[in-house]
Amino acid sequence: PRKIIIDTDPGQDDAIAILLALGSPELEIAGISAVAGNVPLKLTEKNARKICELAGRPEIKVYAGAIRPLARELVTAEEVHGKTGLNGPDLPEPTMKLQDQYAVDFIVETLMKEESGTITLCPLGPLTNVALALIREPRIAPRIKEIVLMGGGFFEGGNVTPTAEFNIYVDPHAADVVFRSGIPIVMMPLDVTHKALTTSKRIEAFRKLGTKVGIAAAEMLEFFERYDEGKYGTDGGPLHDPCVIAYLLKPDLFKGRHCNVTVETASELTMGMTVVDWWGVTSREKNAMVMRDIDHDGFFALLVERLGRLN
Ligand code: BDR
Ligand code: CA
Repeated sequence: PRKIIIDTDPGQDDAIAILLALGSPELEIAGISAVAGNVPLKLTEKNARKICELAGRPEIKVYAGAIRPLARELVTAEEVHGKTGLNGPDLPEPTMKLQDQYAVDFIVETLMKEESGTITLCPLGPLTNVALALIREPRIAPRIKEIVLMGGGFFEGGNVTPTAEFNIYVDPHAADVVFRSGIPIVMMPLDVTHKALTTSKRIEAFRKLGTKVGIAAAEMLEFFERYDEGKYGTDGGPLHDPCVIAYLLKPDLFKGRHCNVTVETASELTMGMTVVDWWGVTSREKNAMVMRDIDHDGFFALLVERLGRLN
């Protein structure tokens, strides 16, 4: 199986992404590193453990990382995810332990120890932990197979400001470090995720699994979609983070283009904007595979099938 580290700030959509990975034998989770984002770190690391236990996988190692972005104050998103970050289902307090090691050290150590080119990073939140790892130990960069991340937006615009997507907006300086790192990047921006909508029919398909995981997934998504449905007037909300894991399983579900992505870190007006050179109008080096389209029926079919394998 392909070895991955999931770096995350759960988050209902992060939770579905973790469940998708846990339900997929093609992937081996070397560890889950939590970061502050949707809610503060204390909650994101706890939510990650709740999800592992929900899936019956308490042996997965969960690490706590950065409590705040590199340079800016932490911005959270309780209005989207609820007070706990995981509002919706009534999940028990986790009994599995949080690992003692700092998540950033775990990322560095794993990359230095495992065979070079075998570990894929899957960031689903602000890029603080990943940037800190790259700063602490630059030798990890060429050892990373690929970074497949959810973040940014270009033609679709932003969801926090008119030009910025949440994960990049929360820590634009960290995102800048990552996009300049030379590591192969696959980016799932809002342009993709806003096409992956949790319609009521799709939520029902999770509930009909009849399992603990299926029912909890339906409850999470019902809570999650109410915010974006109100905001965008759509049937269903965008299911962002699972696109990252789905790409590892079925890359053909997505279509995009290799181009240059630069992150705005100076202008208050457009802070955290991902400036995507889609048309190749600059001579800047191509540093990311930027996705724009998704086979959303195939994506949801994959999700239901894989979550259906859990408990
Ligand atoms: C991203 O922000 C978070 O609220 C979601 O979990 C996702 O990672 C979407 O902008
Ligand atoms: Ca997230």
